[in-house]
Amino acid sequence: MDTTILRKTGNPQALNSFFRENGLETADDDNPAGAVTAAWKLNDAGSGQLIGAVVLVRRNNEYIINDIAVDPLYRNNKYGMKLLKKAIAEVNRLAGKRIYLVAKVPPFFATAGFREWADKEALQLFSCIDCPQYKKTCHPKVMRLDLKE
Ligand SMILES: CC(C)(COP(=O)(O)OP(=O)(O)OC[C@H]1O[C@@H](n2cnc3c(N)ncnc32)[C@H](O)[C@@H]1OP(=O)(O)O)[C@@H](O)C(=O)NCCC(=O)NCCS
Repeated sequence: MDTTILRKTGNPQALNSFFRENGLETADDDNPAGAVTAAWKLNDAGSGQLIGAVVLVRRNNEYIINDIAVDPLYRNNKYGMKLLKKAIAEVNRLAGKRIYLVAKVPPFFATAGFREWADKEALQLFSCIDCPQYKKTCHPKVMRLDLKE
């Protein structure tokens, strides 16, 4: 049974420590409200605890999922997919044609139809090619979902 509440938030930076606690490299000053298209938080309906979140941004005219995470105790309950589908629906609503992200867990995103997409333009969206760690200590998996017309 799904006992969670999914809400849009106007304060995406308040989610940054949650993302960091869940293994993402999100700095405190990432995701300023003015640079975020939309962000959602998922709370346990009983305790009110924050158990998941997703942040959608627009950069270089492309929609990007900047951060998505679910608390480890709540994983494998489709809550991650609930968050991801919310962000996808928003891009559909805004008439976006595709969504990019850098995946730490490619199979999760593949379940929603994302495919690996390693062309130069896509990597440039994430400043990967200019990064000294690129293909040395960091092997980013850029993925893209094409939305139906
Ligand atoms: C990735 C993450 C958000 C998934 O959340 P979740 O709530 O456990 O995922 P769901 O239960 O919605 O899973 C949906 C599907 O993805 C699959 N999946 C989820 N995590 C997976 C993993 N680590 N490896 C392989 N498949 C995975 C599930 O098996 C499920 O597939 P199914 O529909 O065929 O059964 C969560 O593991 C997480 O927060 N990880 C740490 C942060 C992170 O790496 N975020 C991604 C940044 S790019």
